[in-house]
Amino acid sequence: MLQSMHTPTNSSTLHLFSNPEKASLYVAQQIADLIRQQQTQGKPAVLGLATGNTPKRVYEELINLHKNEGLSFANVISFNLDEYYPIHPEDTQSYTYFMNRYLFGSIDIKLENIHIPHTNCAANGINEYCKAYEEKIARFGGLDLQLLGIGRNGHIGFNEPGSSFQDTTRLVNLHSLTREDAQTDFGGLENVPHQAISIGIDTIVQARKILLLALGEKKSEIISKALQGEITTRVPASILQNLPHVEYVLDHEAAALIEEAVVA
Ligand code: GLP
Repeated sequence: MLQSMHTPTNSSTLHLFSNPEKASLYVAQQIADLIRQQQTQGKPAVLGLATGNTPKRVYEELINLHKNEGLSFANVISFNLDEYYPIHPEDTQSYTYFMNRYLFGSIDIKLENIHIPHTNCAANGINEYCKAYEEKIARFGGLDLQLLGIGRNGHIGFNEPGSSFQDTTRLVNLHSLTREDAQTDFGGLENVPHQAISIGIDTIVQARKILLLALGEKKSEIISKALQGEITTRVPASILQNLPHVEYVLDHEAAALIEEAVVA
């Protein structure tokens, strides 16, 4: 690690790495340590998981640890952050497909312990479904660790600008920038759903540990706003600034516009 410090203006912690590989390995190690620590106490590890390009290397490393170092996921209960609506779980753009491809298909997690908002439920059943998702997280005692990426507009999960900090799991409308960023995956903007189910900001901040991973120059502008700008619902990730159980894990490019980090 290059540098670890309290973020210049607040109480969360910033871990800076010279490249995306090192940052990803650090995150994977944190997750593996938690799983093992819970195992030694005979407890489940309740993980909040994210999708997108950012966590792919983290998941690859977790698979390596499973295959080469015997890391077992038998005690892991997972809850994914979000899913497009509507989408079929077997569609290659769905987050169910993503998670199976990049992680679940290659580890020993029990199928019954995997939770991903499945959005092929009828429109009039969504509120009930979201409430049940939220209750399930609570029934497992809440999230031990939440892994987050960040959207270019500051979204976490699919909590878009304007989301209330009190929101829990619900149906959301996707922001135009979010849909634009997804258009390559969907083969054109017209194919990108307009809505999604997302756990809320309130659900996220209650996790006992939060790791926000951001990599690359594309994220530098929003990272500087989220870490050092005003705390505002216009930048949903800004809520994390004052939380001592939050760690931002950044490579040098993503951290390029953070004032003190650039000087260091
Ligand atoms: C999607 C996901 C977010 C993720 C974001 C960033 O919007 N719902 O959870 O953080 O994409 O994706 P990427 O890591 O590909 O930049």
